[in-house]
Amino acid sequence: MRVAGRLVGETLNHLEKLVEVGVSTYDLDHEAEAFIRKNGGVPSFLHYNGYPASICTSINEVVVHGIPDKKRRLKDGDIISVDCGAIVDGWHGDAARTFLVGNVSDEVRKLVEVTKECFFLGAEQAVEGNHLIDIARAIEAHAKEYGYGVIREMVGHGIGSSMHEPPEVPNYVDPRMGRGLKLAAGMTLAIEPMISLGTWKLVIARDGWTAFTADGKPSAHYENTIIVGKDSHEVLTIV
Ligand code: MF3
Ligand code: CO
Repeated sequence: MRVAGRLVGETLNHLEKLVEVGVSTYDLDHEAEAFIRKNGGVPSFLHYNGYPASICTSINEVVVHGIPDKKRRLKDGDIISVDCGAIVDGWHGDAARTFLVGNVSDEVRKLVEVTKECFFLGAEQAVEGNHLIDIARAIEAHAKEYGYGVIREMVGHGIGSSMHEPPEVPNYVDPRMGRGLKLAAGMTLAIEPMISLGTWKLVIARDGWTAFTADGKPSAHYENTIIVGKDSHEVLTIV
């Protein structure tokens, strides 16, 4: 999983350098697939439940699962969340970043920054003896400090020899979940706050994938695959 995670991190770093006004999300997808394969991996999103591409490219009010498209070129002021997964020798890595395109408003920049902070605050809780609720609480509390919406319908997850394994890793405290699973060293999780400037409610487009904020306000996503440790965690997808 360290090898797969490293490849996902490197792929996102590679894509970050290509993000600029005029580039299409299709071009980014093409680059990602080529980069993953060239480095001995297989893109895990491609054909996953019928998904047609190797990355998700979710622009502005699209929260997650935006489908790369030749006709959608990046514009000045956009934010684009790129979600990427790869398999190496049967093991998965999964991560996402939100990139800025040209001049992004201060309000939206702040959203992107705080979403990243939410990840790190959540990940800090990924230590043996804590529960899933500790991760959720840390993420939700930080987002709420800024009045942001925490997406509820999409959650983080266990990851290993499959991309999505139990448990679900919510980014908000759900009273129905109790304290959630008790964490033990060696568990591997994808922690992925999805945070919006307005509502947490989503609408799914007719393509069956693209998830928009119900109020059309921008949303950011930041995800890494991590290992729970005895008294700290290890991030596998930041290189
Ligand atoms: N990587 C996403 C997640 O974080 C899932 C992508 S769905 C796919 O769980 F269909 F695009 F693969
Ligand atoms: Co994920």
